[in-house]
Amino acid sequence: MQQRSDALIVDAVRSPIGRKGGTLSHIRGDELSAQVVNGLVARNDVDPAQVEDLQWGCVTQIEEQAWNIGRNVALTAGWPVSVCGTTVDRQCGSSMQTNFNAAAAVWSGQLDLVISGGVEMMSRVPMGSNRGSMSDLVHERFDIVMQGISAEEIAKQWKLSREELDRYSYESHMRAARAIDEGRFEREIIPIDLDVPSPEGDGGTATLVKTRFAVDEAVRRGTTLEKMASLQPAFIPDGVVTAGNSSQIVDGSAAVLIASEQKASELGLEPRGRFLGFGIAGVDPHMMLHGNPEACDRALAKAGLTWDDMTVIEVNEAFASVVLQFLADTGLQERYEAGDVNPNGGGISLGHPLGATGARMTATLLSELERRNARYGIAAMCIGFGQAIAGVVERL
Ligand SMILES: CC(C)(COP(=O)(O)OP(=O)(O)OC[C@H]1O[C@@H](n2cnc3c(N)ncnc32)[C@H](O)[C@@H]1OP(=O)(O)O)[C@@H](O)C(=O)NCCC(=O)NCCS
Repeated sequence: MQQRSDALIVDAVRSPIGRKGGTLSHIRGDELSAQVVNGLVARNDVDPAQVEDLQWGCVTQIEEQAWNIGRNVALTAGWPVSVCGTTVDRQCGSSMQTNFNAAAAVWSGQLDLVISGGVEMMSRVPMGSNRGSMSDLVHERFDIVMQGISAEEIAKQWKLSREELDRYSYESHMRAARAIDEGRFEREIIPIDLDVPSPEGDGGTATLVKTRFAVDEAVRRGTTLEKMASLQPAFIPDGVVTAGNSSQIVDGSAAVLIASEQKASELGLEPRGRFLGFGIAGVDPHMMLHGNPEACDRALAKAGLTWDDMTVIEVNEAFASVVLQFLADTGLQERYEAGDVNPNGGGISLGHPLGATGARMTATLLSELERRNARYGIAAMCIGFGQAIAGVVERL
């Protein structure tokens, strides 16, 4: 590929992730995202008028998340009308896709300053509430099921026991709690100011209290393997997938500022990293969530790198079975045990705000590469109805 410019990652940030029905359930997604992007440009001293496009991942695009929320985020943020916005749905991979789109636009010389990111307020706009459907022509070809059933199928096919899934998930909570305690997320988090109902009040506007929300809230520090073992299967009666070993339903937003070399130098920006390559993979829509290894192979090939070059590997914890299948297929179990794969938890512990997770993982990956003084990392995500996407990042 002949590139006009590197796709530089100037910065990558996110809101703290709010648990289902928790602190962030009291703010709209466009308003949450507006605080995230305003925080992003403010700390980089970028005039929002310089941003050409805001490319926003969001899966459940109805109600407050409809009407092209990408553009609405720019308007809500108070930015000039010249800042464009678009909304992208590649299901769980949506804001990794916006990274891909933004990087491709910069690589090809079409755009110079883009914000890629996303939002999903799963408490306010529940997953599936857009009531999608597929043609009978698809149903004739494939047995289309919900994601949790596919997670069960993967556990069955890869011979993963309930105990293995729970052990992985317990470790995710422990890693996330340690990351919070050690301040590993501090650089990536933009604290969010909002009004929440006072615990003493009746929920009316008179009883709202101003709050600054700065710490991820879904992590279950007190969980134990015994408690997790006591949870009932969530999707099928004799299944192994439970609320404890699935990604959590949460609220959150994340954003990545992507610039061309020329723009970065013109504005005096100091990039933290750059994108080196992306890979997408289409797989069987019934099993649906097992495409990560293939997407990674493609992204690594585009980057001209191998697994050995990757110091940090982030794989979205959509379900524990998905990560364990990834580890089995790639042979990276030892790297996981050593703490190189999902070192700071993931969707099971922090939560998986669908449209925001790709950008959230990018921010977390970059922070971790910096913490380790390391060069290369990769982030991969499985995608509903049979796809996966991965992106390779170099820290500068
Ligand atoms: C699995 C799922 C259906 C569970 O939903 P839920 O029942 O609303 O989940 P909750 O978080 O309320 O947990 C249910 C119970 O398990 C308990 N629990 C969950 N995780 C636990 C843990 N790690 N340790 C101990 N208890 C836990 C909760 O405390 C809760 O108990 P309670 O009812 O006594 O309060 C939901 O999280 C889900 O759909 N996840 C996957 C989302 C998804 O598909 N995303 C796309 C990926 S491709």
